[in-house]
Amino acid sequence: MIVFGKVSGVSAPDLAKTFNAAGADFERVTPLVWGPAAQVLVHQLAVQPGDHVLDVCAGTGASALAAALAAGPSGGVRALDLARELLAVGQGIAETRGLRNVVFEEADVTSWQPSRAAYDALACSYGVFFLPDMDEQVERLLGFLRPDGRAGFTVWLHGALEDYAVAFGDALKHVTGAEGPARRPVWEDNIVRINQRESLTAWLHERGLVDVSVTVLSSHIPVTETFAWDFVRGSGMRGALLALQPEVVTAVREEFLAMLGRRGITMVDASTLVATGRRPSCRG
Ligand SMILES: C[S@@+](CC[C@H](N)C(=O)[O-])C[C@H]1O[C@@H](n2cnc3c(N)ncnc32)[C@H](O)[C@@H]1O
Repeated sequence: MIVFGKVSGVSAPDLAKTFNAAGADFERVTPLVWGPAAQVLVHQLAVQPGDHVLDVCAGTGASALAAALAAGPSGGVRALDLARELLAVGQGIAETRGLRNVVFEEADVTSWQPSRAAYDALACSYGVFFLPDMDEQVERLLGFLRPDGRAGFTVWLHGALEDYAVAFGDALKHVTGAEGPARRPVWEDNIVRINQRESLTAWLHERGLVDVSVTVLSSHIPVTETFAWDFVRGSGMRGALLALQPEVVTAVREEFLAMLGRRGITMVDASTLVATGRRPSCRG
């Protein structure tokens, strides 16, 4: 984890800009990164035929599309995200697959209001730590579940991505001379609160969930030249490239790939916590 100075919120438009820029690159890493966790999440959430699922921070729909298959034609999925480019990719995939029970909607989940009474399940894969007031926002989203409705989250496991992300930050610094932002983004503080099995379990209990189950999805992705750079371009790391000229981006790429080699980083540890729980029938 790259740690900068004081913490600061990241505005919704800035997040949208980062993830919109990731666009098609985001989907390129789905088979290795977003997809496996989404499958496990939907399985652990036990989405059933007829279920109505709310998928927040949905991106290109890794978990929304998996949930749509599980919910079947008598159920459905509403997939929300700030980044319209990612939603458009997800919508295209749904159409190609003939999935008519998933709707992609551009929305800031921190202010979105549901039009249906209550959802059977809430899914949020690699998104919860982006929410500025994470505790309050998750409690608000859990309020959209029916009693006994289930909620599921995926979060990077403590230590995941670390060597890789540090190398990327160092390559950026080496090429641009920039020290990184004076204020670190809020998700870095959020994620360290919930990136271990025990802390995530406790955090979900504090949010009022019961029957909490947190499993570890172990994942070690070989660092090919293609994957190493695709993952930068197709993830939140893309934000660091936005203000750079194309020739500087090329120099960062070259330095980053060389640095991975020099540091002997041959795998990206993408291990992930998959957490599910149930909203109790009666809230005390
Ligand atoms: C790492 S991506 C994960 C996407 C998807 N769940 C997946 O696993 O492939 C995080 C997503 O959260 C979205 N996001 C962050 N804050 C959001 C907010 N306040 N409202 C809606 N989407 C948000 C971003 O736009 C981005 O698409």
